[in-house]
Amino acid sequence: MKLEISLFGTEFQNPVLLAAGTCGFGMELSEVLDLETLGGFVTKSVTVEPRAGNPAPRVTEFQGGMLNSIGLANPGLEATRRDKLPWIRDNVKRARVLLSIAGHRVEEFFQLVEGFDGEEGFLGFEVNLSCPNDTRRAGSTFALDPDAVARIIEGCRARTQRPLVAKLAPNDPDVGGTARVAESAGADALTLVNTLPGILLGPADGIPELGAGTGGMSGPALRPSGLLAVKTARAATSLPLIGVGGVLGARDAVSYARAGAVLVALGTASFADPRAATRTVEGLVRWGRGRGVAHWTDLVTPRAGTAVHDTGGES
Ligand code: FUM
Repeated sequence: MKLEISLFGTEFQNPVLLAAGTCGFGMELSEVLDLETLGGFVTKSVTVEPRAGNPAPRVTEFQGGMLNSIGLANPGLEATRRDKLPWIRDNVKRARVLLSIAGHRVEEFFQLVEGFDGEEGFLGFEVNLSCPNDTRRAGSTFALDPDAVARIIEGCRARTQRPLVAKLAPNDPDVGGTARVAESAGADALTLVNTLPGILLGPADGIPELGAGTGGMSGPALRPSGLLAVKTARAATSLPLIGVGGVLGARDAVSYARAGAVLVALGTASFADPRAATRTVEGLVRWGRGRGVAHWTDLVTPRAGTAVHDTGGES
């Protein structure tokens, strides 16, 4: 099965990415995983100012997955520009990189786009509208406010020609409507979904297991919500979709393609096995070969009424 995808005016060598927040800026992970085997990766979300993040413990596990509240710990705009992007520019050639940006206020997204747009080392922006762990926003996410989604995406669009990917939330009761808002505002693609807000409490004392109290749930338990959100967005818009949530391997990646995602991103799986994404690429080739599927895009469900999935170019 051929895996190449033409998207955003460039080629992704395969549809498998690492999700934001699960691979930093690639540098550390490159010691255990060949990043160049991947379709690409999404960086840790960057905010205007450096952030130390939320109190420990920041991560806890349960049977269905993981709960995290990292609190957008990141080096901030200046240090990312100075230390992170040059490394990516010099070391990552075949994998495509999306730079994730996050703001506490609408204007901060604009500052980030303006601050990064002239730099090398990344293809486009993933606009993180859906972090559930921003204590300064008391856990409320922009993704649940269509006016904020429109203002942020429109403002970013006015400041960059690069691909703009809006990352939406799994607990959005109208994710189809939000997908359309993002599309009208100028998004080139959507990532669905971020982690789902949750809490784990110690049975003996009722104390939250995470230092911040609540967190975002990821891992296999998120997969049904991720698939539903992708399927709902697929019915609502023709934008290319990036499916995230509980992908453990090739089988789950194909499920996301069936829901309508042209790219998929792994997160929690690579904490248990840093090579999970590479294994997924290898597994996809076997999966397709075993079933006589010629091309990955043959598996991607288009929006009803559209003959060919719009990947922005030839596939
Ligand atoms: O806590 C965090 O840094 C999580 C970010 C996100 O889910 O977007």
